[in-house]
Amino acid sequence: MKTLLSEEQVRAGVVRMAAEIRERLGPGPLTIIGVLTGSLVLLADLIRLLDMPLRVGVIQASSYRGETERGQLQIQSELLPELAGHRVLLVDDIFDTGHTLVAVCDLIRGQRPVSVHSAVLLRKRGRQQVAPQPDFVAFEIPNTFVVGYGLDFRDAYRNLPYVAVLEPHELAETAG
Ligand code: IMP
Ligand code: MG
Repeated sequence: MKTLLSEEQVRAGVVRMAAEIRERLGPGPLTIIGVLTGSLVLLADLIRLLDMPLRVGVIQASSYRGETERGQLQIQSELLPELAGHRVLLVDDIFDTGHTLVAVCDLIRGQRPVSVHSAVLLRKRGRQQVAPQPDFVAFEIPNTFVVGYGLDFRDAYRNLPYVAVLEPHELAETAG
């Protein structure tokens, strides 16, 4: 495994992104919706760096089905709080093809919030298949499969405090 972003670099990127969010969205109340499961770690760090009145909710989206390529996208929205009349910030781990965030955004817009913005830890260069882009991006990374800080490979590695690239032999292994 090779470290792509150290714990210190990730921290600095999240602090920078939190400052941008606060600057652009202002001091008014905000509802942050984390896209499970990959956004868990970013969500926990980000909300503690924001000082406006915050509500926190979650939505679950899964498309990878345990592999590194996209499968059928499934969204579970039962745990969403009331969004009508609220300003929403969607938070996800990574913007890869972009299909997940676009689908979740559309679903959220259907709940009639006042506004919807989106923030991601990582955006992969040259992978996007959709026109809309996240409003806030902490890091641009090369087109390579990464794990850690919430990102998984077959549900493993989410707990790494840094972002790493897996070696080919690690991608070939089954985590159980
Ligand atoms: P998209 O719909 O292609 O943008 O994929 C977004 C989702 O795929 C993310 O929320 C991640 O869960 C997953 N994903 C994409 N790239 C990676 C990666 O390099 N490592 C781990 N998960 C990834
Ligand atoms: Mg995810």
